[in-house]
Amino acid sequence: MKVLVIGASGFLGKKIMRVLSADFELYGTAHSQKSNELYILDITNKDRVIGLLEKLKPGIVIHTAGITNVDKCETGKKEAFEANVEGTKNIVDACKRIKAKLVYASTDYIFDGEKSNYKEDDKANPINNYGKSKYDGEIIVKKGLDDYIITRSSVLYGYNDENDKNTFAKWVINSLKEGKKINLVTDQTVSSTLIDDIAEGIKILIKKNKKGTFHLAGSEAASRYEIAKRIAKVFDLDKSLLNPIKTDKLKQIAKRPKNSSLDSSKAEKEGIVMSTIEEGLKKMKSQMSS
Ligand SMILES: NC(=O)c1ccc[n+]([C@@H]2O[C@H](COP(=O)([O-])OP(=O)(O)OC[C@H]3O[C@@H](n4cnc5c(N)ncnc54)[C@H](OP(=O)(O)O)[C@@H]3O)[C@@H](O)[C@H]2O)c1
Repeated sequence: MKVLVIGASGFLGKKIMRVLSADFELYGTAHSQKSNELYILDITNKDRVIGLLEKLKPGIVIHTAGITNVDKCETGKKEAFEANVEGTKNIVDACKRIKAKLVYASTDYIFDGEKSNYKEDDKANPINNYGKSKYDGEIIVKKGLDDYIITRSSVLYGYNDENDKNTFAKWVINSLKEGKKINLVTDQTVSSTLIDDIAEGIKILIKKNKKGTFHLAGSEAASRYEIAKRIAKVFDLDKSLLNPIKTDKLKQIAKRPKNSSLDSSKAEKEGIVMSTIEEGLKKMKSQMSS
């Protein structure tokens, strides 16, 4: 089976390429990053999207591309909606033409965070542009296709290589290694997710030919401050450099949900294992040192 990963140069896309490589005939796309192995594709260019999908004719398309920086989506609303909404529409239209299944990577930020432990059918109510653009993408996928999987995850961490983008975990590790004191919020709770678990989860869902929405998120809900404390423990770093603060002190550009933790029990019933924070960090650490 041919699988095309759109956004294969990204943090999650790269891991999906690695995890799926043994079982599928894999193709991937990058946008701005140079690569000899990946096709270059701008998902906002409809003709190019259709052209590539018609040329490769994958049975499954995994869409992890878009603008993922939450504050950038607030200041650059037009670009965020072009990439995350129009881009997704172009992919959906192309999948419809070639009758491909679509896997769309979405986020906990489609929820407002006033509840917690969200299930797949809970009401979405995004409170920032990133969340709105991702939720609009979800609606386009659901309306446009019968054969789709939407996955929702939260604050991704893990390791591909030294070129990985500056994720929350990488920022904490590097700051503590450099002896820098950093501020961490105690009032934003998330189900931080190991990228390996999402990739394995997607592999299981597509092998079982599942359809619908699945939360693929870390099995533990914790605040950013709590997560940073676990990072310090697993990586043997100085936790006294972690300074707990409240969100309103941070002056972040985009609003953040207070508690957007996700319940992944639907996926777990399919045999998908979502790590605890400590398990995930230990896997990440062993990959970094091997
Ligand atoms: N990061 C998180 O904490 C998080 C949490 C929940 C859900 N998610 C979702 O998971 C998915 C993957 O996130 P990530 O953190 O792995 O993303 P990422 O590292 O920021 O990668 C984004 C990917 O999208 C590509 N891209 C950007 N604009 C594009 C365009 N106009 N046309 C085609 N490709 C474009 C990038 O290509 P180049 O790099 O080559 O330009 C890159 O491959 C996203 O859908 C995101 O919404 C992420």
